[in-house]
Amino acid sequence: MTLSKCFNFQDFRQAARRRLPGPIFNYIDGAADDETTYRRNTSAFESCDLVPRILRGVEDVDLSVTVLGQKLDLPVYCSPTALQRLFHHEGERGVAAAAETYGTMFGVSSLGTASIEEIAKKHSNPQVYQFYFHKDRGLNSAMMQRAKENGIAAMMLTVDSITGGNRERDLRTGFAIPFRLNLRGITEFAMKPAWALNYFTHEKFSLPQLDEHIDFGSGTASIGQYFTEMLDPSLNWDDVARMVAEWDGQFCLKGVMSVEDAKRAAEIGCTGIVVSNHGGRQLDGSRSSFDQLAEIVDAVGDKLDVIMDSGVTRGTHVLKALSLGAKAVGLGRYYLFPLAAYGRAGVERALGQMKAELVRDMRLMGCREIGELSRANLRFR
Ligand SMILES: Cc1cc2nc3c(=O)[nH]c(=O)nc-3n(C[C@H](O)[C@H](O)[C@H](O)COP(=O)(O)O)c2cc1C
Repeated sequence: MTLSKCFNFQDFRQAARRRLPGPIFNYIDGAADDETTYRRNTSAFESCDLVPRILRGVEDVDLSVTVLGQKLDLPVYCSPTALQRLFHHEGERGVAAAAETYGTMFGVSSLGTASIEEIAKKHSNPQVYQFYFHKDRGLNSAMMQRAKENGIAAMMLTVDSITGGNRERDLRTGFAIPFRLNLRGITEFAMKPAWALNYFTHEKFSLPQLDEHIDFGSGTASIGQYFTEMLDPSLNWDDVARMVAEWDGQFCLKGVMSVEDAKRAAEIGCTGIVVSNHGGRQLDGSRSSFDQLAEIVDAVGDKLDVIMDSGVTRGTHVLKALSLGAKAVGLGRYYLFPLAAYGRAGVERALGQMKAELVRDMRLMGCREIGELSRANLRFR
């Protein structure tokens, strides 16, 4: 499929499936256990309908929002995701450039394959640094210092990954970093030589946020070990409160799903939370972000920025979330499949399509600014 034939999320997903070896496609596409939360994430948007207004002079539409102290031209941003150069050699560089083209924010993962220094130097659009909490408190401080020195706009601490989700597709293929493929996985790699050619003729895979601290290169350490041995499952509110104070700037918790936790985040000085179930990749059976959004906005929407992600594939999904009170919406697989299939050009096309959908849908809704969206224009079935 050529890029010009991709018109929506499913087209890009199919294009990525064609190009990627099965284990990598399934790493991106897969989720935990029976993937019920993953499915619900997108179908939840169908539990309510938009009620459009008419004849309201909508020639100019302003999609900009302010979130985590940053003005974005679009109400969507590229949520931090791991290992992007494994999907396409342009990886984080392509995503950062595409996000800059559309004046929006993107996240660099601590499991990113390009360094925060390089990305910060090249791009002026706002960046969040996604962080996992390590047992070694000195390492946490050093990594935050590094982010500060690079002018990172906001810290985003992921709190829904205290242990890894049960991704059975990865168990079946043997997907791991470094690769420990089983026979089925190896066969699937052999079937996609174009991906292999691209991967092996570009810069060697590395995890520059962590390379100083853990030796992935020699093959002795794995990402699985990183999660089990270096991250701290005893992480609690006092630890996060200390981090928030140490960072002393925009600080966001990613993966908040309950009202009680949202209130606690506000109390310890977080400036934002992301209502997220990690795209269904962690606790299967957990509620969808969209289903859970309203009660969290009601509880803390006046105290911090409530952001949401998981399951967003259409402009109308974004408008529904914003109508409920989200300040911005994170995209994950929505940009990862285009990246995997076409690199930066794919991400630009996908973000361009999202922007076009948002402008069209805002006009059809009779809205000129995001602030005009409200619960008055939603009806739950
Ligand atoms: C392949 C993949 C890798 C991810 N890596 C990370 C990560 O390193 N850190 C993180 O906080 N979230 C990570 N996420 C979660 C995303 O940031 C986001 O919460 C999720 O993808 C949203 O769901 P969606 O894909 O349905 O849009 C990852 C998601 C995917 C699909």
